[in-house]
Amino acid sequence: MKSILVLLGAIGAQACQRDLNLAHGHRHVKRQDTTAAFPPALDANEQILINSFDNTSISEWSYYYTHGNHIAGLNKTMAQWTADKWTEYGFASRLDEYYVFLNYPVSHSLSLTYANGSVHTASLTEDVLEEDDTSSYPDRIPTFHGYSFTGNASAEYVYVGRGQQVDFNRLEALGVELEGKIALAKYGGPFRGLKVKNAQEHGMIGAVLFVDPADDGNMTEAKGIEAYPNGPARNPSSVQRGSVQFLSIYPGDPTTPGYTSKHDSPRADKSGSVPHIPSIPISWVDAQPLLQALNGYGTNGTDVNRTGWVGAIPGATYSTGVGSGARLSMSNIMNDTYNPIWNAVGIINGTNEDEVLVIGNHRDAWIVGGAADPNSGSAVLIELAKAFSALSETGWKPLRTIVLASWDAEEYGLVGSTEWVEEYIPWLKTAAISYLNIDVAVSGPIPDFSATPDLHRIATSTMKKVVYPFHGATNNTLYDVWTSISGGEIGVLGSGSDYTAFLHRGIAAIDMGAGPGPNDPVYHYHSNYDSYHWMSTFGDPGFHTHKAFGQYLTLLAYHMSTDPVLPLEPEDYVPELRTYFSDLEETLASYEPPAASNSTTSSPTTLDLSALESAISTFATAAEEFSALRAQAIASNDTALLTVTNHKARDFSRGFTSQGGLPGREFFQNLLFAPGLDTGYAPVTYPAITESVTFADDFDRAQLWVGKTAQAILVAAGMLRT
Ligand SMILES: *[C@@H]1O[C@H](CO)[C@@H](O)[C@H](O)[C@H]1NC(C)=O
Ligand SMILES: *[C@@H]1O[C@H](CO)[C@@H](O)[C@H](O)[C@H]1NC(C)=O
Ligand SMILES: *[C@@H]1O[C@H](CO)[C@@H](O)[C@H](O)[C@H]1NC(C)=O
Ligand SMILES: *[C@@H]1O[C@H](CO)[C@@H](O)[C@H](O)[C@H]1NC(C)=O
Ligand SMILES: *[C@@H]1O[C@H](CO)[C@@H](O)[C@H](O)[C@H]1NC(C)=O
Ligand SMILES: *[C@@H]1O[C@H](CO)[C@@H](O)[C@H](O)[C@H]1NC(C)=O
Ligand SMILES: *[C@@H]1O[C@H](CO)[C@@H](O)[C@H](O)[C@H]1NC(C)=O
Ligand SMILES: *[C@@H]1O[C@H](CO)[C@@H](O)[C@H](O)[C@H]1NC(C)=O
Ligand SMILES: *[C@@H]1O[C@H](CO)[C@@H](O)[C@H](O)[C@H]1NC(C)=O
Ligand SMILES: *[C@@H]1O[C@H](CO)[C@@H](O)[C@H](O)[C@H]1NC(C)=O
Ligand SMILES: *[C@@H]1O[C@H](CO)[C@@H](O)[C@H](O)[C@H]1NC(C)=O
Ligand SMILES: *[C@@H]1O[C@H](CO)[C@@H](O)[C@H](O)[C@H]1NC(C)=O
Ligand SMILES: [Zn+2]
Repeated sequence: MKSILVLLGAIGAQACQRDLNLAHGHRHVKRQDTTAAFPPALDANEQILINSFDNTSISEWSYYYTHGNHIAGLNKTMAQWTADKWTEYGFASRLDEYYVFLNYPVSHSLSLTYANGSVHTASLTEDVLEEDDTSSYPDRIPTFHGYSFTGNASAEYVYVGRGQQVDFNRLEALGVELEGKIALAKYGGPFRGLKVKNAQEHGMIGAVLFVDPADDGNMTEAKGIEAYPNGPARNPSSVQRGSVQFLSIYPGDPTTPGYTSKHDSPRADKSGSVPHIPSIPISWVDAQPLLQALNGYGTNGTDVNRTGWVGAIPGATYSTGVGSGARLSMSNIMNDTYNPIWNAVGIINGTNEDEVLVIGNHRDAWIVGGAADPNSGSAVLIELAKAFSALSETGWKPLRTIVLASWDAEEYGLVGSTEWVEEYIPWLKTAAISYLNIDVAVSGPIPDFSATPDLHRIATSTMKKVVYPFHGATNNTLYDVWTSISGGEIGVLGSGSDYTAFLHRGIAAIDMGAGPGPNDPVYHYHSNYDSYHWMSTFGDPGFHTHKAFGQYLTLLAYHMSTDPVLPLEPEDYVPELRTYFSDLEETLASYEPPAASNSTTSSPTTLDLSALESAISTFATAAEEFSALRAQAIASNDTALLTVTNHKARDFSRGFTSQGGLPGREFFQNLLFAPGLDTGYAPVTYPAITESVTFADDFDRAQLWVGKTAQAILVAAGMLRT
């Protein structure tokens, strides 16, 4: 009855700033819970919350959000509308304004000059589709990169694969000259800003980024599927906009690192976190002649022999292009400004004022639509407020304060949430019990979760309470569908959405959403076709997945805010810490020093991990003692002791942070997980130790960070004990 016939190796991608259809980041401890009862057994309050959800009203909120320009800083009306809706449903709401660096597109162009002198001009526009109303809005947003550099470049160009450091290493090994050239790179893999950063660091003077249908699984025109709007394959003119900030170095307003952006805030030099070469995003159709002009020059894609190097654009060999004689001329003109942005914030005070749950979604989108990214999450948050309003009518009041946040300027680099956390950090450090993030709630049917380990248990048990529609099957819980696809593994948080600032201040966090697998309709990420029409026709016809995810988030928020025993499990960190430890040992075992390394004094064999291993054991003992103490508080109904244990559960993860941050990136303070320096989205565990080896080849520094990481784990253990 609950069997799910489809087993996919693919992922759902919920984070806004994450490319689709890529390998998972770390996936760790597998939970072998029994399968969920069907239909789920719910208590009276849960039933009220679940019943309040209505797919038709969700579609109305979605329609509102997806029919007006709402790029960062340009739609205060929409921010106020959100706050007003929350007020209507009982949340005391307001707008929090910041004044941040942003830039908007003015003009751009790209042309290819062949060796024979003839010129081809790229269109740089997405087709207007009669069926899709917002694709023709007069104020639709041009294709461009947020925080891109204003400038022109004219030079020969090189195809650089996905533009990761390993790709550039390969090009250097092949003797390809990069200095003074323009990079043509494929989307996917690392965060797009890091592709531009890598190109810049290799002396290149411009970057052009394209989407490749090879990343669309089986849903391609080449495999006989019709393209949007007639079918679920990618519309060939679609372009992925997006930020080119150096996300793994610093998110937030690049001119106010570490402090909040007010009108009169001092402004720092931003050159360390945004590019100083121009970049332009293009469609695969615009990329085709550019790639084809490189055919037969340099090393062909097959011979480059790098995973993901060769794509599926017809007629292209994905050659490096050395000696083609073809040139690109690009121009990218942006308007650099300081603009106000608005976070809507809605609050219901709890009985315990020193325990605060924050639930957030960003509101800004690169396009007039944004039906998946981010407004599937925005529609769900309104419906969540409505459900709590229905519950309030029974006299329910949360034990803990609930804060709803609708962030602005997430797309440019998590700006609204980062500035807000920087402003309210004293309060949040003291009182925040967790941050629940919902960015892209729905861009397909495959559920996906990443969270800090202390949230795994409540995240998983709540999945058993929600009925989840999947590929036409109706009698499954979210838990059934999720376990059959993911194997029951919750991911490690990297970056790419608004949980980042919370996570790196030691606050428990979860990110959730559902995305497409390789046989689902292609999600036109950051394109005009991420529209209401696409969503209601292909992405989630009937808005049933929206409803299920909203019910899930609402029940999770209900338990986090209302259960007398705060449902955070410090003990669930223990198996994760041990898995990260064996991952680290593996990294060291497979380490190969780069040819140019001068490292003589230290090597993987001399790195002593015993301090880390011993700190994990100490933490394990402390966590066990904590669980025993809490069990005692529950058994004896000792509310004073329960408050003590709840506060320990709230606070202990602050211990995992280091004030000075990771090497070279002060913002990222969590010593257990961080976005990889050269991935931007995907996580690295024990990042300071791991990347001292994999990036710096510096074993003395790695040894230093073994000590600091162990110390942080001991601090967390101490907080559970005292
Ligand atoms: C703001 O968004 C709303 C709702 O989508 C839309 O009606 C309005 O036109 C937008 N405002 C601007 C200035 O674009
Ligand atoms: C120049 O080369 C391009 C690409 O090979 C070709 O399409 C075009 O027809 C050529 N133009 C002339 C004038 O030969
Ligand atoms: C594509 O479809 C084929 C045939 O149905 C299937 O064997 C294959 O696994 C699919 N590819 C992916 C990535 O799902
Ligand atoms: C790539 O070049 C090699 C020779 O170096 C050749 O054997 C192979 O067929 C080429 N592949 C493509 C796809 O052009
Ligand atoms: C391609 O690279 C892999 C390892 O990265 C290597 O084992 C293999 O021999 C290479 N193939 C060629 C044709 O160079
Ligand atoms: C940059 O290129 C654009 C478009 O070709 C041109 O209008 C502009 O004058 C150029 N600017 C500079 C500084 O060369
Ligand atoms: C740039 O933005 C400012 C305000 O943000 C505006 O006054 C100005 O007209 C814009 N300039 C261009 C060229 O768009
Ligand atoms: C919630 O509590 C805060 C802090 O005590 C207080 O300032 C605020 O007025 C309260 N809000 C409501 C709606 O009661
Ligand atoms: C689905 O579950 C309901 C009870 O909740 C049951 O009546 C129905 O027969 C089930 N449908 C299928 C296809 O198993
Ligand atoms: C809501 O779901 C019902 C039942 O499946 C369906 O008939 C209706 O069209 C859906 N509403 C919307 C707006 O899609
Ligand atoms: C290695 O040492 C040489 C000579 O001392 C120096 O020029 C080079 O920069 C060093 N390389 C690295 C990666 O430190
Ligand atoms: C636990 O204590 C609270 C207040 O101290 C009381 O209201 C409640 O009835 C007690 N519950 C049990 C099961 O004894
Ligand atoms: Zn997003």
